Amino acid sequence: MKPKMHSNVFETSRADALLEWYDRHARVMPWRVPPEARRNGVMPDAYKVWLSEIMLQQTTVATVQSYFKYFVKRWPTVKDLANAEDGDVMGAWAGLGYYARARNLLKCARVVTKDHKGLFPNDYEQLLKLPGIGPYTAAALSAIAFDRSETVVDGNVERVMSRLFEVNTPLPHAKSKLTEFAARLTPQKRPGDYAQAVMDLGATLCTPRNPACGICPWNASCLGRINGTASALPKKRPKQQKPTRYGIVYYVEREDGAVLLERRPEKGLLGGMLGFPCSAWEDIAKDSPPLQTEWQALGEEVRHTFTHFHLRLAIRCAHVTQAVSPRVGMFVSKSEFAPNSLPTLMRKVFNLVTAKDKLGKGIYRKRSSQRNV
Ligand code: ADE
Repeated sequence: MKPKMHSNVFETSRADALLEWYDRHARVMPWRVPPEARRNGVMPDAYKVWLSEIMLQQTTVATVQSYFKYFVKRWPTVKDLANAEDGDVMGAWAGLGYYARARNLLKCARVVTKDHKGLFPNDYEQLLKLPGIGPYTAAALSAIAFDRSETVVDGNVERVMSRLFEVNTPLPHAKSKLTEFAARLTPQKRPGDYAQAVMDLGATLCTPRNPACGICPWNASCLGRINGTASALPKKRPKQQKPTRYGIVYYVEREDGAVLLERRPEKGLLGGMLGFPCSAWEDIAKDSPPLQTEWQALGEEVRHTFTHFHLRLAIRCAHVTQAVSPRVGMFVSKSEFAPNSLPTLMRKVFNLVTAKDKLGKGIYRKRSSQRNV
């Protein structure tokens, strides 16, 4: 349930103080309507707000900028995105991680185009029904795109609230309490700018380490600052140690320069993304080559960390003739192979293999005695 609170006079003046700060210090972002234009009645484009909010989940503003610009240039409206090829969108998302977001992005664009005539619904409950839109995104979109008084709570906002009200309960336990405090402060006036202002405050002044309390518009009433506890908040449950999983990745180059790629199944990590064929990722690496040939070990492994485990992949390389037909995947010609459309893990593999080759080690070059079966 969403907490609904009514602001009292004290909370209203707090919201006003933050909005005044935002008017002077709002960060410039390509999806954002600056506060001055917003006050002159310019409304944001809901498609851009939605796209940015999906991209910003688990990803920094700095990383998102170039992806966002590329997406809106290539697919300027939600209808354009709905009509895109799945593989093109997954490729454009490569490197942003959490690929379920991209699959849901496409699903959502198609539902909005088909069932809502290409217009995002403007209220929380309707938004919540769309693929990939949870409580955070529904609140952010209804506040920022439609100026509805909804409470937006991300990690930044949780930190700000935990300090302002000196909440000592550790996260994630404290979430509902922090959301209640955030709801109490949410104003009726300029709720969209207010939502962005609290997030900006958390990102720029009320930072995890060394918060800039001296110049914070809320410093006079912040219990964390008054009691000297701000830097130690929010408290967090100790992190679980991540296990390590192992596997083998196979880099195959054909004599015409084509590279063997496989699209990963929709379900699971890196779902729907292109990559080099790979064994399962388990406690022990198990060989499962995509074709029979003479494999050469690269001698260096790729390491990557996912949310719940570390991964170490050994790399095996082969150079094959046109005659081979692999058990899985397809050969992609040199001209069509775009390393940038690979997820980060696979790009690391490609970079390692090509770096070795550039060093003249000839790791995956075919030796004259080698025969492909
Ligand atoms: N983080 C996520 N969405 C944001 C937004 N709209 N403004 C600032 N920071 C954000």
